[in-house]
Amino acid sequence: MLSEKVLAALNAQINMELNAFYTYLSASAFLESANFPGFAAWMHHHAEEEMEHAMKIYHFVHERLGRVSLQAIPAPTQSWDTIKAVFEAAMHHEQKVTASINALVDLARSEKDHATEVFLHWFVKEQVEEEMIVDQVIQKLNLIGDFRPGLFMLDHELGEEAEGES
Ligand code: FEO
Repeated sequence: MLSEKVLAALNAQINMELNAFYTYLSASAFLESANFPGFAAWMHHHAEEEMEHAMKIYHFVHERLGRVSLQAIPAPTQSWDTIKAVFEAAMHHEQKVTASINALVDLARSEKDHATEVFLHWFVKEQVEEEMIVDQVIQKLNLIGDFRPGLFMLDHELGEEAEGES
């Protein structure tokens, strides 16, 4: 059985992952309308991953005989000034998710909930990868600067990457 505190924190994490899904999907819609299909596909792929994260926790709560309680998801940002700003917003979001996962691990540990702590290890590792992946794109965008052909080449590269992963 989950303690009330751990259950509430897991439900809050489901909301956060769904919020991330919505954020990435909104970024994908923006990039699609800005005629960057590769960046849009990359964001769409990551949106799907966030939904998988939410569902992993959703199923875990049920396995532990808890009650999933879905809450409202705030409206995401709809537009950004630059492509780099889109990815910086994604990075900011990932850092918030990482902090939340770490706090959840701390809570599981203090509640002596070993099953939840072990379950969360996957998320701890996943966050390291997620931050690294977003940072790689930001670094490439830094190198490209205002060089438009470079932006289109990266759009193509990320589109192929998203296709290979889906
Ligand atoms: Fe599920 Fe990207 O955090």
